[in-house]
Amino acid sequence: MEAVSIGILGLGTVGGGTVTVLTRNAREIARRAGRGIEIARAAARDYRPERIEGLNQIGQIGTDLFAVVEDPSIQVIVELIGGESPAFELVMRAIETGKHVVTANKALIAKRGNEIFGAARRRGVMVGFEAAVAGGIPIIKALREGLAANHIEWIAGIINGTGNFILTQMRDHGCDFAAALADAQARGYAEVDPTLDIEGIDAAHKLTILASLAFGIPLQFEHCFTEGISRIDPEDIANAAELGYRIKHLGIARRSAGGIELRVHPTLLPERRLLANVDGVMNAILVKGDAVGPTLFYGAGAGALPTASSVVADLIDVVRALTTDPNHRVPHLAFQPDELVDIPILPM
Ligand code: HSE
Repeated sequence: MEAVSIGILGLGTVGGGTVTVLTRNAREIARRAGRGIEIARAAARDYRPERIEGLNQIGQIGTDLFAVVEDPSIQVIVELIGGESPAFELVMRAIETGKHVVTANKALIAKRGNEIFGAARRRGVMVGFEAAVAGGIPIIKALREGLAANHIEWIAGIINGTGNFILTQMRDHGCDFAAALADAQARGYAEVDPTLDIEGIDAAHKLTILASLAFGIPLQFEHCFTEGISRIDPEDIANAAELGYRIKHLGIARRSAGGIELRVHPTLLPERRLLANVDGVMNAILVKGDAVGPTLFYGAGAGALPTASSVVADLIDVVRALTTDPNHRVPHLAFQPDELVDIPILPM
């Protein structure tokens, strides 16, 4: 069967990782998907060719992002440029032209997801966003599929790898905040604008998405209480340690009587607790369902190959659906779109 043609927007850390995974594991991916995946085109404004294994597998590389979206031979657009604009316009145009979309863009999904999913539904195309939350951990699929039988009571997790890396470096090596951040940036963990990581905004994007999937509510990023780690100094960490605690930056979404708590902030955790022992770039998410009880999802929350693992998993889902049953569409959300309810987010 003919390979499915994809177009990749962005060849930065995640874009480069995606090309590498698609190239390295091409045969196994084709066996799982039922067809090969061919990178017909890619567009990037700025990238480091020497850092991308498999670059020669891309049919054509240019700088015009919209040209890739307009190409009628491409069936799936993989949006990896990040940020809200022009990612939103590119994704909406891709949907308009009947292309499926895979994205790692949490800001885009958290802030414009309601519009994007509406448009995708009307056009009958799929939108995959597994890579938008917690890098390589398949938490979107877990909430949408594996835990679908449950009434989800709460979610609590470390969902920003950069922030967790910084707090870990400060605790283990006594290094200052700026040095730890520079290290996270050099490793490709941080956002282009690291304010998003250190002020908790990136975690708020991700928590917004998780809460929508867990509770069947519309995406409501603007109501998430958000506090970052930029004001934590080595003394705070040392004081916490003396009392037997660790400081972790958590995202918490919880049902309570009057509505839903949606908050990200630094938290003191007793040092024997599971989440207190999640270090470096690793993420961990606890999900409590009424039937299953507490479950823990752990893995690399950022970085080229872990995030690409989730991007490519979504691509395989899309190709499988195209291959096995053209009428079957992988749902975007855990709840039917008509069944979303407006539970109020509680003020903090
Ligand atoms: N900057 C993000 C983080 C990347 O550090 O978690 C993955 O979403």
